[in-house]
Amino acid sequence: MDDTSQPAPHHRWRRWLRRGLIGLVALFALIQLVPYGHAWNNPPVTKAAQWPDARSAALAKTSCLDCHSNMTNWWWGTKVAPASWLAENDVRGGRKHLNFSEWDTPQPDVDEVVEAITSGGMPPLQYRVVHPGAGLSTADRDALAAAIRTMYATDPPAGIRSRRDGD
Ligand code: HEC
Repeated sequence: MDDTSQPAPHHRWRRWLRRGLIGLVALFALIQLVPYGHAWNNPPVTKAAQWPDARSAALAKTSCLDCHSNMTNWWWGTKVAPASWLAENDVRGGRKHLNFSEWDTPQPDVDEVVEAITSGGMPPLQYRVVHPGAGLSTADRDALAAAIRTMYATDPPAGIRSRRDGD
């Protein structure tokens, strides 16, 4: 007796694969509707920190300012969930700790900023993976750290915030 009512196992497998793919596409479309990850409107620059020289200004732009300023470059990759969730989280956290566009508000003390640069902790790994040019050489770190010291001496922020350990 031939059994045409039951799909061959091979067809059943293809049908599940197709359903799985449709489900994934639907899930991808659905997560785009989550409001978190839509922080693409940069707040105004209230007072820009003055970089003492062109080199440090360029280094900061490629390695720090996407997260530590109100001049974030929201390229398309930062607008697609779930990457957009990580981007918003990084930018919120970065601006909260240090914001070179709000130099009229308290900022961390100079040693904390220099330490973040010389320790190699900044920019964070996930940023360097997506922006391979953002990694800093030892010479870059020294130049940027020196520029930060000059900046704090000649154009300090409006106040120095005490260290916020662990957040
Ligand atoms: C991808 C976003 C991103 C980039 C790029 C980035 N930071 Fe950060 N930064 C953060 C976040 C988020 C925090 C909050 C602390 C944490 O979660 O580690 C932070 C914290 C800091 C702090 C507070 C102290 C500390 O270490 O936690 C300093 C200072 C700092 N960053 C400096 C810099 C400098 C200088 C650069 C450029 C060389 C830079 N950051 C690049 C996201 C970023």
